[in-house]
Amino acid sequence: MNTVYSSIKGLGFYVPDTIVTNDDLTQYMDTSDAWIQERTGIKQRRFFTYGKETNASMAAAASRQALDRAGLVPKDVELIVYATLSPDYYFPGSAFLMQRELELEGIAVIDIRQQCSGFVYGLSIADQFIKTGMYKTVLVVGSEIQSTLMDKTTEGRNVAVIFGDGAGAAVVQATTDPEHRILSTHLHADGRYAEELYLKDPGSSRPDHFITADTATAGGSSVVMNGNAVFKHAVVRFMEVINEGLTANGYQATDLSLLVPHQANIRISGYIQQQMNLPDEKVFNNIQKYGNTTAASIPIALTEAYEQGRIQSGDLVCLAAFGSGFTWASALIKW
Ligand code: COA
Repeated sequence: MNTVYSSIKGLGFYVPDTIVTNDDLTQYMDTSDAWIQERTGIKQRRFFTYGKETNASMAAAASRQALDRAGLVPKDVELIVYATLSPDYYFPGSAFLMQRELELEGIAVIDIRQQCSGFVYGLSIADQFIKTGMYKTVLVVGSEIQSTLMDKTTEGRNVAVIFGDGAGAAVVQATTDPEHRILSTHLHADGRYAEELYLKDPGSSRPDHFITADTATAGGSSVVMNGNAVFKHAVVRFMEVINEGLTANGYQATDLSLLVPHQANIRISGYIQQQMNLPDEKVFNNIQKYGNTTAASIPIALTEAYEQGRIQSGDLVCLAAFGSGFTWASALIKW
């Protein structure tokens, strides 16, 4: 019997039309285009329009594109793995809403909460379900509406300038071709740092009802980040988890065709690139246009890289992420 592997058969993404430049942000807070570009590399990001987009509708649009490009239709999907930190509802998760939108009632859905590592975790879940033979076609999505989670005043500026909205999706399918497949995935987490980048409310950590007039004004409903701590851990963990993937498969950095890092900060990507001695053409960045879209960042970047011809059949592609939790993860793919 042939061994079953999984491979990415189609990619898609959706970003809202509304472009918010760094200069636009200066209306709400004391910041500048020069500061944001120098510290993060970001020039602009997209913000959703209420009434036009939802977390699930953006994910559905990205998924339709990915399915179309795979030559498939929604009815071919057997499982949805949905990564987001900004769901439409507290519960049920947005996977249910996207399933409804794609008219896929009855199939399994899994919502996961791994923040910036969500897409790579999702890919790993898809890979495991496919390799066991339980499913043949899995849709993995990352979607975020983060523009409503941030304090857009000067007090929240270290967070508010970084994050944006958008969605990306990948169709993962069973294959028996050992030359074109997901080689391995590597997942990690360290909850000791949970509060270094988190959103407290609405949550059950409050003494009374989880949303009251007091909790609404207690400052827990905007993302809080210790930027320095995140930066320091990110650069170490990114390197570790990329090398873990390469070593597990007998490769070295020089064998990589393309690294698609989670788009956290251009300085983090730049540090990794320098440490791994990779030329510019082997690292893909699009944070300049979209900011950090958390779970959506890797599938958006991967789709754009593919569209631009930066990924060819047979290429060795590494996806790597780090984020709130802390979580970090990588996937090594023979395209
Ligand atoms: N505009 C202007 N000034 C700002 C600012 C903004 N948007 N945000 C912070 N500042 C100010 C601070 O108030 C501080 O002023 P002070 O010196 O008068 O106190 C100064 O800039 C330096 O702040 P600091 O937080 O030390 O800056 P930094 O160089 O660490 O950059 C981040 C801040 C957030 C850009 C940086 O820490 C970072 O990128 N961290 C990683 C974040 C990340 O990747 N998160 C996602 C993980 S998935």
